[in-house]
Amino acid sequence: MKTLLKGGRVIDPANGRDGEMDVLIENGTIARVARTLPADGAEVFELRRGWIVAPGLIDMHVHLREPGQEHKETVATGTAAAVAGGFTAVACMPNTDPINDHPGITELILRKTAQANLARVYPIGAVSLGSRGEQLAELGAQKAAGCVGFTDDGRPVATALLMRRALEYAGMLGVPIIDHCEDPSLKGDGVAHEGYRAATMGLRGIPGVAESIMVERDIALAELTGGAFHVAHMSARQSVRAVRDAKMRGGSRVTCEVAPHHFILTDESLERPTRYDTNVKMNPPLREQADRDAMLDGIADGTVDVIATDHAPHHLDEKLVEFDRAPFGIVGLETAVPLVFDRLVHAGRIGLPRMIELLSVNPARVLALPGGSLAEGRPADVTILAPDAPVSIRASALRSKSKNTPFDGWSLRGGVAATIVGGRVVYRNEQA
Ligand code: DOR
Repeated sequence: MKTLLKGGRVIDPANGRDGEMDVLIENGTIARVARTLPADGAEVFELRRGWIVAPGLIDMHVHLREPGQEHKETVATGTAAAVAGGFTAVACMPNTDPINDHPGITELILRKTAQANLARVYPIGAVSLGSRGEQLAELGAQKAAGCVGFTDDGRPVATALLMRRALEYAGMLGVPIIDHCEDPSLKGDGVAHEGYRAATMGLRGIPGVAESIMVERDIALAELTGGAFHVAHMSARQSVRAVRDAKMRGGSRVTCEVAPHHFILTDESLERPTRYDTNVKMNPPLREQADRDAMLDGIADGTVDVIATDHAPHHLDEKLVEFDRAPFGIVGLETAVPLVFDRLVHAGRIGLPRMIELLSVNPARVLALPGGSLAEGRPADVTILAPDAPVSIRASALRSKSKNTPFDGWSLRGGVAATIVGGRVVYRNEQA
C-alpha cells in the first residue's frame, strides 16, 4: 500500500522542513519526503496550491465521556469529530463515570478506540482514586495499561502533599501531571469570571487568581520535585505571568495549554449576541480583555506550549437550563483549526510553523507521544490543511454527539482538507 502526497507545502518543524515537497507513505509509515518523488505505483493524492502537509494534529485535552456518559459523546463519535477537525490523536480526560483510575477502564477505552478505528486515543488517568483527592491511584499500573499522563481534571489535585507525591511518582514514570488549576475556596459556587459583567448580570464570580494561586503552588512543587507539571486550560493573565517567570528562571519542567475560546472570547459573550447563553459557560470561565490579550501574548512569545480544545460535550437537555444550573463546557474538536487559522495565523499573530508547533509538535513532546514529526520511518499521521478554505461553522452539522458551541454561525478562513492516520485517509473534506 503506497500513497504519494504531491505538491503540498510540507511544514515539519521537528525536522526543520518547510517547503514544497512530496511525501511518500508506505505500509502506514512515512517512507520519503523529498522535492519530487515518482509515483512508482503509489496512489497519488494531488494537493491544491497552498495546501499544507503537517504532522498529525494532537488535541491533548478532550472529554470522550465513555464509559458512563454516552448520551454526551462516545469514543466512536468523539474520534469521528477529532478526525473531521484534523486531529489524528487525542488524549482523553479521566472524569468519566466511573472515573478512569483503574487499568480496566483504560483498557476499555483502548478497546473502543480500536473498534472505532479513526483517531488514536491516549488515555489520561486520574491522579487520585475517584479523583477524590485522598489516595493516589495506581499510576504505575495505569501507565503500563496505556496512560500517558495523570490529572484529576474537572477538579484540581486537592492538596499540595498529593500533588507533591503525584509529581514524584509520575516523574519516575516519565509522564506529566496535568492540573486543573483552581483554588476551590476562591471558586466557591461561581459560574462566570468575577468582574463587571458577572456583577451586572447577577452571576457569582470566579476570580482569575483562583487559577493562578494553584498554578503558583504547582510550579513550586515542580521545582521541588523535578516532576513535569502541565497547566490545563489556562485562562488568567496572572497564570501566564507565573508560567513565563518559571520558564525564565529555568530548572523546572513546566508547560501549559490554552483553549481557543480563551484566546478569542471574553466575558462580553455573556451578554452578546445572546444573554445568559449556556454555551459560553465553561470552567475556567471566559475572562476579560486583559486576560484574553495575555493569552495571545503568551501564544506569540512562546510562553504557551500547546493549544488544546478542552472538548467538553454536554447534551442539549443539560445545557437548556438556567445559566447557574448548566454544566461547564463546550465542544471544540471541529472548530479549533478554523479558529486558529482565522484568529491567529491570518490575523498575523503567529506563522504557520508556530501553529504546527502548538497543535502537533508540542503536545507530542509534553506527553512523550510518537507523533509531531514527519521523519522517515514514523507512523504516517498527517493532517492536510487548506489555509484559505472558507468555513462556516454549523452546530447541527458537527460530528460530535453534542452541539454545545458558542461559534455556531461563524464564518472563518482556513480549514482541514484531509486527515490521515497510519497511512489511511480517515477524513476528506470535499468542500476544501
Ligand atoms: O468546562 C469544563 N468542562 N471544564 C472542566 O474542567 C470540565 C469539563 C467537563 O468535563 O465538562
